[in-house]
Amino acid sequence: MDFYEVIKTRRSVRSYKKDPIPEDVLERVLNSARIAPSGSNRQPWKFIIIKDPKIKEKMVEFCEGQSFVAEAPILIVACGRNIHYNRGGWMGDYSVIVDVAIAVDHLTLSARAEGLGTCWIGSFDNEKIKNFLGIPEDVNVVALTPLGYPLDPKVFKETKNRKDIKEIICYERWED
Ligand SMILES: Cc1cc2nc3c(=O)[nH]c(=O)nc-3n(C[C@H](O)[C@H](O)[C@H](O)COP(=O)(O)O)c2cc1C
Repeated sequence: MDFYEVIKTRRSVRSYKKDPIPEDVLERVLNSARIAPSGSNRQPWKFIIIKDPKIKEKMVEFCEGQSFVAEAPILIVACGRNIHYNRGGWMGDYSVIVDVAIAVDHLTLSARAEGLGTCWIGSFDNEKIKNFLGIPEDVNVVALTPLGYPLDPKVFKETKNRKDIKEIICYERWED
């Protein structure tokens, strides 16, 4: 699938089929996260793959009741280990969030290329998920996403719901 077509037609998917994801497809999608760039190549991430329906249901509770979180065959919990970066100016210790976000973005775009849906979940209770899944103290959850085939494949379409390019680009110095 053409790269720009992937980017243009990736959408947040909030209804999923129960169909399983073939192992080779899953491997390609996860590998896209693995090869993402990170600050000083520290790769501070870990992706917890949840298939157990009971655990997925518990995650719904920790994601403000967003029930579709448990609909897809797989739920991914993307975590990042807090690393003290000596470089990077003010970004310093925020780098872990940036790193994990890039890896999740790789994953969501690869998923789209494979015909799979994802939805970035940012509304969740970090502490409750950490306790439930045994995530260590120095690791935080950065995002979750279901991974599965969309109930309606027509969901993959371009959106008009974005700012105009002129609003977000300026040249040489800041302009409002
Ligand atoms: C950091 C972040 C947090 C988000 N949290 C949620 C969430 O908790 N629940 C949800 O349904 N969508 C969530 N979204 C999805 C956005 O609502 C969605 O990306 C946005 O409306 C644009 O739609 P699109 O993804 O279909 O292009 C989140 C997206 C991002 C990037």
